[in-house]
Amino acid sequence: MGADVKTVLCVVGARPNFMKIGPVIAALKAAGLAAPLVHTGQHYDEGMNDRFFRDLGLPQPEINLDVGSGSHAQQTGEIMRRFEPVLDRIDPDAVLVVGDVNSTIACALVAVKKGIRVVHVEAGLRSFDRAMPEEINRVLTDQISDLLFTTERHAEANLRREGIDPARIVFVGNVMIDTLRANLERAVPAARTLAGSGAGSGAGSGVAAAGYVLVTLHRPSNVDDPVVLARLVGCLEAMAAETPVVCPLHPRTRARLNEAGLIGRLRGPGFAVMEPVGYLEMLGLMQGARLVVTDSGGLQEETTALGIPCLTVRENTERPITVDEGSNTVVGTDAAVVMAAYRDVLASGGKAGRIPELWDGRAGQRIAHVLAERL
Ligand code: UD1
Repeated sequence: MGADVKTVLCVVGARPNFMKIGPVIAALKAAGLAAPLVHTGQHYDEGMNDRFFRDLGLPQPEINLDVGSGSHAQQTGEIMRRFEPVLDRIDPDAVLVVGDVNSTIACALVAVKKGIRVVHVEAGLRSFDRAMPEEINRVLTDQISDLLFTTERHAEANLRREGIDPARIVFVGNVMIDTLRANLERAVPAARTLAGSGAGSGAGSGVAAAGYVLVTLHRPSNVDDPVVLARLVGCLEAMAAETPVVCPLHPRTRARLNEAGLIGRLRGPGFAVMEPVGYLEMLGLMQGARLVVTDSGGLQEETTALGIPCLTVRENTERPITVDEGSNTVVGTDAAVVMAAYRDVLASGGKAGRIPELWDGRAGQRIAHVLAERL
């Protein structure tokens, strides 16, 4: 490698990072930059990690910090401790972090204190809810980033309000949608995922391969509070009595359902509850869904890109473009409101929306272009 080749050290840690980094690494390499990958090990299971690397054809990380699970302080601190010597060894021109997970802030903080430029992909999103761990990660990462790439125009206004120099902000579009568009043709048909899921009694047999409600829940605010969790389970039961409910379960959610003694209520007819699915299975499940009910940020964006109605069971969203222009509606967790919104989508077909500006499959290339120029 010539001495003039710039190195952008790319970081991933948790599931939602994996679908963001692929297009960035590919475009950086195509632009003649070196783009080694560090995995913090925040997510590590076959179903939460390995499978995504295979599905997305991601390069194997040069380094895995193997931090695993823990409290926020433990996890963040351990990532920082283990990432520092990696920077000493590789001495990159920049560290590129994506999204808003603990790995994002931990690695950005180590880099900035060593005088290495920090690049944040998916900057400026704000839920304005500081009880959300990701919101803290977003605000702090943006404050210490040298270059901030945004997915939607609201983000730049948020960053300016927080005093970020506009010269550091570049609106490039959404790298997660680069990945979605590149993989649509490889989506695994829902019928195959449902047949092979081995989920509870309703799976495969009782649940048709189209026209179901696809549900994902994993936010601490929804699943760690047994009262909210029980309320949402009640909603899912009411939906399943009318429309099949397909629900891949995040490990956090499965653990909380078990602790609260609620898991049995998702085993009745009309339910297909399964282990987390891979990226290509999830694409297929979204395509076959009549409606997606979720608290995931990624699914809000992916359903908007696919034009599939989405109900977000949270009080807010950091991705307002999915509501203003896309197919998303924020409904909160009040059972009557959730069920009214669900019935409305079933009756009306729900919002189709339109594709937001620059969600065109070329965000990774725009990022690489800017980095090749500015580093
Ligand atoms: C993390 C992110 C969240 C993201 C989510 C996607 C933070 C603060 N949160 O939350 O923004 O939406 O990932 O999944 O970074 N576990 C496993 N196997 C794994 C990983 C986790 O079983 O491979 C279990 C562990 O019991 C762990 C729990 O899931 O304690 C939660 O994992 P953690 O990474 O702490 O947070 P997530 O809820 O996954």
